[in-house]
Amino acid sequence: MLIRLTAVCVALALPFGAIAHENQKNPEIRYRHAIMETLSNQFVAMGLILQAKVDRPDEMAVNARALAENVRLIAGLFPDNSKGAKALPLIWDEPEKVAQAAQRAVDAADALVAAATDGNRQAIARAFKAAGDSCKGCHERYKEADD
Ligand code: HEC
Repeated sequence: MLIRLTAVCVALALPFGAIAHENQKNPEIRYRHAIMETLSNQFVAMGLILQAKVDRPDEMAVNARALAENVRLIAGLFPDNSKGAKALPLIWDEPEKVAQAAQRAVDAADALVAAATDGNRQAIARAFKAAGDSCKGCHERYKEADD
């Protein structure tokens, strides 16, 4: 992604550093990215548990609860003073749909907590996938593609 963005900037004779710097400067954008990265890392941790790459089945529910806490912040991550980065302008044009997409992520994370607390592996795997789909659904509509 970085290489491609750099290539685009070179092609357009834009100072890549200046653009990156512009986004870095906006604390609301930095905050959004920090929270989104937190969510993503929670998925990495749960994926490792689900694939039994680490033997920590009891920590699935801990991670699911952390995810469920943090997804509740999504709805508030797009204030008007945070336009830009990879968020498409559309996200500021249809707040109701965005609220619904954020709520879908909350509901999916809550279902994952329930499954993880219950401990049934197949149910956990299904809820894990559904939670991931709730992220993907929003990204497909409102986030610039990575490649
Ligand atoms: C309401 C819509 C929405 C939902 C739901 C959502 N995202 Fe995002 N996400 C976005 C948008 C828009 C961006 C681009 C933001 C930007 O570049 O400033 C983004 C960016 C990201 C990024 C890149 C952050 C960075 O540092 O550039 C990650 C990682 C991410 N999301 C993970 C997730 C995960 C994991 C979930 C599900 C638990 C999720 N997102 C749910 C809209 C959403």
